[in-house]
Formats: sequence, C-alpha cells, structure tokens
Amino acid sequence: MNDPKTSPLAPAPDPAASDPAAPDPAAPEPAAPPFAQTSVVYLPRQWFAVCSSRELGKGAKAITLQGVRMALFRGEDGTPGALLDRCSHRNVPLSAGRVVDGEVECGYHGWRFNTSGTCTRVPGLCRSHGADSRRAPSFACREQDGFIWVWSTPNEPPSTEPFRLPMLDAPGYTTVRRSVDFPGTMQATVENALDVPHTAFLHRGLFRGAGEPNRISVRVTRTATSVEAEYTGEPRPEGLVGRMLSPSGGVVSHWDRFVLPCVAQVEYRLGEENHFLVTSLMTPVDAHLTRAFAVISFRLRIPGWLVTPFLAPIAMQIFKQDAKVLARQSEASHFWGGERYVSTEIDILGAQIQRLLRRAADGRLAPDDKPWTKQVQLDA
Ligand code: FES
Ligand SMILES: [Fe+2]
Repeated sequence: MNDPKTSPLAPAPDPAASDPAAPDPAAPEPAAPPFAQTSVVYLPRQWFAVCSSRELGKGAKAITLQGVRMALFRGEDGTPGALLDRCSHRNVPLSAGRVVDGEVECGYHGWRFNTSGTCTRVPGLCRSHGADSRRAPSFACREQDGFIWVWSTPNEPPSTEPFRLPMLDAPGYTTVRRSVDFPGTMQATVENALDVPHTAFLHRGLFRGAGEPNRISVRVTRTATSVEAEYTGEPRPEGLVGRMLSPSGGVVSHWDRFVLPCVAQVEYRLGEENHFLVTSLMTPVDAHLTRAFAVISFRLRIPGWLVTPFLAPIAMQIFKQDAKVLARQSEASHFWGGERYVSTEIDILGAQIQRLLRRAADGRLAPDDKPWTKQVQLDA
C-alpha cells in the first residue's frame, strides 16, 4: 500500500490554501488521532441516540455503539436498559435471549439480568444469585424525543442529559424522521452534513441550483462544545427544496451547527413564517459506519401534509448521494492508509468539527473556552 506520508503521489501543499482552524501556520501539526491517519475518535461519557423508541419493542435488541455491542431491552415499567451484549457466564449474546418480566434471559443456561446488570437468576443454583462477579456491565439509558439514548461509558451515572430536539411539538410544525447509514467516520459524516460547497455540485438541482453562484458572507462562532456558521445574503436556493421553502424567492437566513457529541443541525429561515430545521443525531456505530437519525421539522406557507410526500423522497435522494460519496471517500482513505486533506477557507466547519471531536475524545474540553468569531466569503 502507498504510504501517504512518503508517497510521491501525495498532494503537494497548496500555498494559496489556508486551514481555517490553523491560526498559526508555523505551529507543529496536531497529534495524530488514534488509528493512524484516519479521523476515528472514541468519545467516552457522551449521550448517543441508538434507535428510535418504536424500534425497541418487547424483546431485546442488539445495537452497536462505537464498536461496543449492547443488548437493549425494556424493564418491567418500560424504562430502557442497555447491557454489554455478552453474558457473563459463557459470553453468549444477551440480545439473542428473551425478555421475561423486564429482565433479559440468556438463551444458553437461562441466567437473567435486570436493566442495571444484576444477575437475578441462575437456574439450578441453590444459593444467592446476585453475586457481583456475575454482573453484566450496564450503560445508562434515557428515552427522550422518540429516541433511546445510551451513555457511552458503562457502570457510571451520567453527568449530563441528552440533547433536546427543538420544535417537535411547536404549533404549526410538521416533523419527518428518517435514518440513514453513512459508510464514513463520524467526523467525515458530520462534515458532510454541514458542508455547503458540495451541495451545489453533488446535489446539483436538488438543493442548490444550477445557476450562477452568489457571494455569501459567513460568520463562524465557536464555543467549548459547539461551532456555528451563519450565512447571510444568501438568495433562496434554486433547487427543488429551495423552491418548496419559498416559491416566490427572497433572501434566506441559514445556520449550520455542530453540537458535541453528535448533533449536526441545518436551519433555514425565510421571512416570518418559513422555517426549516434538519437536526441529525449522528451515531458512530463503529469506526467507519455512522448512523444518522435525521429529524426534519418545518413550518411553511404550504401545509405540511402537502409538502411531506415531495420533501421526504428528495431528502432521501440527497442522503443517498451523500452516503455514496462517503463510501468512496472511506474506501480511498483506507486504500491510501489514512486521510490526507488539503482545505481552503471555504471548508468552513471541517477543521472545527475535527477539533471538537478530538478534544471530546481526549477529555480536553475547556468549559471557559472563549467564544470566537471569524468572517469568510464564498460563492455558492
Ligand atoms: S452463556 Fe449465558 S447463561 Fe450460560
Ligand atoms: Fe450532502
């Protein structure tokens, strides 16, 4: 395999290019992330949405979060629990067992575990069943806004609460939910969701149009746990989605946001009444697969029931185009032994997303990180 560090095929640095997250070009390169040159991070002590409430029925469900297999099930009162998907006896997956009275029962010898991981029953054993050595590691869970959320570190009470989805019950809003698998790292998938320049190219005609580009101003603001790009002076996008937003045109206000650990949000406002918000909850299933739970909430002049049958298929087509290009990006990155990116100032959020994810992975989030703002211009 080609070593991207030494290969003559590696791209030469572009002297005209500047990385928006590198204020000092002379500063040493940041430490390589884990797993060589690939943007894989493992985020401890964070909430992730792992499935919709509807997907967790009466039985146990196998899920994977950051490469860790878990068995999800509901306790007797319906509250979800998540255990490491490995029976402490002989390691058979608990998710393959059945749920009895709110406890998961292993399909091999019938050991039972409650949602906190305590072993409550060992068939045939005459003495106490609840020994600590038989515990299954357990992950804190919440059920909120139609999703099951899991705390990514086992055996500890969470120090925060999951992200609250906005606008779900707001009057006049319609909400459409879809989930899509993206064959890419969490970082690549979040960057894709919030990347403006590719929309006029990869999604030509669907979102941004095929016409002449417009000069747009962008203000980037970051905090200790989030980054936001605010676009001003943007005429209503010419593609199909843009026309639905406002058939009569106009100037839109547009924000792209990433909020640690997993929220990628795109918001459009046009006038007083048109509001379009896509909140994607990104779940790193494993190092190279990210599941996005997209929640699209909108209030338009046209009634929601009329828009949804058109909007949902277009949104899915856009997601499919993104999934396809991310699969190619991942495959190429794997082939070349890692990532080697060159950025310009219009790659607005990529470097900021990377910085936040790495900090969260290393536990280096500084709560007093000063808000920071910069101006960029792009043609889109
Ligand atoms: S392997 Fe689970 S009860 Fe024996
Ligand atoms: Fe896209």
